[in-house]
Amino acid sequence: MHRLKTDLAITSPGRINLIGEHTDYNDGFVLPAAIDKAIILKLGKNGTKSDCRIHSQGFGKVVHIDLGNITKSNNDWENYILGVLYELMLLTDKLKGFDCTIESHLPIGSGVSSSAALECGLAFGLNELFDLGLHKWDIIQLSQRAEHNYVGTKCGIMDQFASVMGKDQHVMLLDCKTLDFEYIPINIEPYRILLLNTNVKHNLAFGEYNVRREQCHNGLTIVGKQFQIGGTFRNVTMDMLNACRSEMGDVVYNRCSYVIQENERVLEAVQALRDRKMDRFGELLYQTHKGLSEQFEVSCPELDFLVDFSKEWKEVLGARMMGGGFGGCTLNIVHKDVVEDFIEESSKVYKKKFSLELSAFQTVPSKGTSIMEKNG
Ligand code: GLA
Repeated sequence: MHRLKTDLAITSPGRINLIGEHTDYNDGFVLPAAIDKAIILKLGKNGTKSDCRIHSQGFGKVVHIDLGNITKSNNDWENYILGVLYELMLLTDKLKGFDCTIESHLPIGSGVSSSAALECGLAFGLNELFDLGLHKWDIIQLSQRAEHNYVGTKCGIMDQFASVMGKDQHVMLLDCKTLDFEYIPINIEPYRILLLNTNVKHNLAFGEYNVRREQCHNGLTIVGKQFQIGGTFRNVTMDMLNACRSEMGDVVYNRCSYVIQENERVLEAVQALRDRKMDRFGELLYQTHKGLSEQFEVSCPELDFLVDFSKEWKEVLGARMMGGGFGGCTLNIVHKDVVEDFIEESSKVYKKKFSLELSAFQTVPSKGTSIMEKNG
């Protein structure tokens, strides 16, 4: 294979979310951070009008894309790229042929949002390479649209936002209704953020994620008909929801009550972080897991097992499934002295129960999508 051209290297991180799950597409609050693991994209202009050569090291092949003829592929990872190119072409005519090599240091399907990292990294890099004049929020929103339109997951804004806006040693409280956000310094010493990857792969495009979104929307429509709430979850109270319970049925009621309670938990968790009340912070994470498992029903036996196991450790303040669900990681707040032991014991019991390997990694809130290297 001929050498692909590189003018620019971009690092685009994955994300964690401390609390605020399945709230982003419900006008709610989230508390994510970018992490110290990323996808690296090397980009260069190749002098052609519209021929793009994309080499993914993980998938070991070069894909050719003609900017003049962008259509969906059967491969998800290609659709992330095609989707971004499609959205960019709607915004600008400055995009020309380019080469791109993708090197991922993010485990796929583990709930740290490798997809958003890829989308945002590509959009960010092409913006730089071709001087497209896009701002960070343009990049975030076009990447979200790429996922909606090309991959089919009707995701919220959290992942793309976290990947692009991340800041070292800070989490971000994002109001997904107004898109206002605040950086919150995170000092949780002597605790560590530990991710345990179940190695069970989910695929959000396979429907359940979109079904949850639909159910929340249906619940909101029913409450909206009865009360003047301006079509947003933020104005829905538990009393309103209770008044509509029989009309919406138990499943939709459970989804909606989870959302209302989770929003309250996010705000309380932020206060606990500010006051350094780490025990309370941990309890809130456990409550979130319970809600995700029982009311929102997006957990799975592997995730529930790991969260239950963590409760046997007094040095673990809290744990919960993270991300869309149906697999991926648990996020654990663990005292630094027991991190190694906790990983070892969790791996042992997990393997015994599910005959699966557990992978573990510690992470810290880190900077968002940025330029690593620029030639010329
Ligand atoms: C996925 C989506 C996000 C968010 C989470 C759940 O990661 O991409 O927008 O909805 O699930 O909180």
